[in-house]
Amino acid sequence: TPRVFSGIQPSGGLTLGNYLGAIRRFVDMQEAGSHETIYCMVDMHAITVWQDPADLARNTRELAAGFIASGIDPERSILINQSQVPEHAQLGWIFNCVARMGWMGRMTQWKDKAGKNAENASLGLFAYPALMAADILIYHATHVPVGEDQKQHLELTRDIAAKFNHDYGVDFFPLTEPVIEGAATRVMSLRDGTKKMSKSDPSDASRINLTDDADTIAKKIRKAKTDPEPLPEDYAGLAERPEARNLVNICAALSDRNVDEVMAEYGGAQFGTFKPALADLAVAKLAPITDEMARLMQDQAEIDRILARGAERARAIAAPILDETYRIVGMVR
Ligand code: TYM
Repeated sequence: TPRVFSGIQPSGGLTLGNYLGAIRRFVDMQEAGSHETIYCMVDMHAITVWQDPADLARNTRELAAGFIASGIDPERSILINQSQVPEHAQLGWIFNCVARMGWMGRMTQWKDKAGKNAENASLGLFAYPALMAADILIYHATHVPVGEDQKQHLELTRDIAAKFNHDYGVDFFPLTEPVIEGAATRVMSLRDGTKKMSKSDPSDASRINLTDDADTIAKKIRKAKTDPEPLPEDYAGLAERPEARNLVNICAALSDRNVDEVMAEYGGAQFGTFKPALADLAVAKLAPITDEMARLMQDQAEIDRILARGAERARAIAAPILDETYRIVGMVR
């Protein structure tokens, strides 16, 4: 069976962007049953920028709780924490030697994050996409559900696989397909429709966190930036209205409808009507997840058991692929 892999950084709480752009799609692919699904908390990626150790541990378990509360079943999917499957880092080193400095330097996420202060960024932040390629390819995964912002990293993953295969004259690593689908592949900030919703935005009002309570969610949506016009009659009318378009996209994704169905219902409506309806929808969809996360977080030993079991299952797949990689490279075993 074809294999799906995806990961999320435990570098802060989950946002509505992570939920709609990633986790919901992870659940869809699990439910489709046509793929083996492996989902990962990427703690080694998180520390490419400094994390408080207690926060990292807490965020990792909370992310695991978020996955499970959202519908990832740790029996049907393999749920892991990256550092507990050492084969990721081991293959990551091989890929550090395959990837080229020039490729890494062209990554927009690197340029955004390191900015003008690249001299002071960690070496890990620069090498980040090579480890990401290893996360995927250590399982020979063929499909990777992600939000729009990860597209460039997945193209690099294909480049690394192709260069490895070429340099060693093998057909060993598959060329992975990104799966970027649905109405919420790029959820935008509630304060600025041209910026991505992000856990690192200094303004908490810019995002909905999966740990926000119902009042906070409703308030953030009511206060979301919009323009004074009512909604247009159809989706095309939103082309120059990024904030309004974002709320329509969120509405579509939360209610499992396409954007045209949402416009059929709310075309011509004032934000005074649309926003409270969206707030109710968001609370109805997110509150059960928030509550379940809090419940799961009360039994951390159980979360740790789930992750230990996931690591064991993952290593059974990863270890032979790593072994074969080492053999291809000529490393004495
Ligand atoms: P991360 O932790 O930044 O985000 C996790 C997932 O959430 C998606 N996402 C969004 N989707 C829509 N709208 C948004 N505003 C939004 N914000 C985040 C991301 O696209 C991503 O799918 N490098 C990855 C983690 C990673 C990974 C991997 C992913 C490491 N190894 C292997 C796939 C495969 C990252 O930093 O995601």
